[in-house]
Amino acid sequence: MKKFAIIGFGGLGKLHFINLLKIQEKRGDIALTAICNSDLSAITKTTQLNIASASLDDIDFSVYNLYTDYKEMIDKEQLDFVFVTLPSHLHAEVCVYCLEHGLDVYTEKPMAITLKQCESMIAAAEKNNKKLMVGQCLRFSEEYIYIKELIENNTYGKVVKAEFSRKSPIPGWSFENWMLDEQKSGGCIVDMHIHDVDVMVWLFGTPRDFSVLCSHNMASYESAFALYEYDGFGVSIIGDWGIPSSYKFKSYYAVTFENAYVECINGCVTLYTNEEKKEITFSGENYLYREEVEFLEGVVDGKPFKTADIYSVYETMKLIFAEKEKRR
Ligand SMILES: NC(=O)c1ccc[n+]([C@@H]2O[C@H](COP(=O)([O-])OP(=O)(O)OC[C@H]3O[C@@H](n4cnc5c(N)ncnc54)[C@H](O)[C@@H]3O)[C@@H](O)[C@H]2O)c1
Repeated sequence: MKKFAIIGFGGLGKLHFINLLKIQEKRGDIALTAICNSDLSAITKTTQLNIASASLDDIDFSVYNLYTDYKEMIDKEQLDFVFVTLPSHLHAEVCVYCLEHGLDVYTEKPMAITLKQCESMIAAAEKNNKKLMVGQCLRFSEEYIYIKELIENNTYGKVVKAEFSRKSPIPGWSFENWMLDEQKSGGCIVDMHIHDVDVMVWLFGTPRDFSVLCSHNMASYESAFALYEYDGFGVSIIGDWGIPSSYKFKSYYAVTFENAYVECINGCVTLYTNEEKKEITFSGENYLYREEVEFLEGVVDGKPFKTADIYSVYETMKLIFAEKEKRR
């Protein structure tokens, strides 16, 4: 039986927790034994995020050992791996500590908030021969996998242009408002715009050039308008988390191929060709769940992380920090 813990039990920690209980029941060879969160009283509370919320009704937390200090937890528990779902500025420090102490690590995106921190995490994984996975979750999302397959199979010819966007009310739900502190979250570019940048790099590779404009109204660097140049086509990405709080989160993409146009509005995908307009349906499987399954198959069954290996995520991080340098 492999034992594991969750470190950071806010919005994302709870979303992963709900899925992990299901996977644990299905697999029968993993056991969540401990949870670490700076505020123990917040563990049982439901957290509402822009993308979802996790209901914790009917959960018996007395079966878990609860900690506020992750180092104490690692000392006392015989853990095999951890899920790190902490504020982003803590990812590097905690992941490196866990890797150095012989644990495999899943961490939420962004990998870290500086490139140097990302490099320290990869170095710790390599040195200790441990696995590290970063939850760049859109790679596991069926509507994005659909586009990847169209490209790989050359179904409708080459890509001619693509646009992506992600718009959110200002993120006011995080612990002590860490998301709005650029020193802790990296701002909109590193926290939210990264989702679409990662998808772009996963689909098309690193662009040969780019430009990015940021605006500031309610928060620092709250929106990014970016253009990327590839051989033969261009990509635009808008990431905006500076919208008043009554707004409901929206995600969008549109990819034009030589012989088709595919549009996705909030997960609903439509394919347009000269012959037909077709709604594309998917299984609806939760993308965080798929990501957790890949992590567990990696650390328990010894399979490679085929969707989000650490070196491919590092390519995204290089572009993200280059954008921060170049932003205007
Ligand atoms: N994949 C996605 O779509 C997605 C969406 C939202 C957030 N995220 C990422 O998930 C991570 C967590 O974000 P969140 O929204 O859950 O934040 P959050 O503020 O809701 O939760 C963070 C939790 O960490 C705890 N914490 C803070 N410092 C700690 C410490 N030193 N030791 C132990 N616990 C500590 C807090 O008490 C809080 O419960 C971030 O990196 C964020 O970028 C990913």
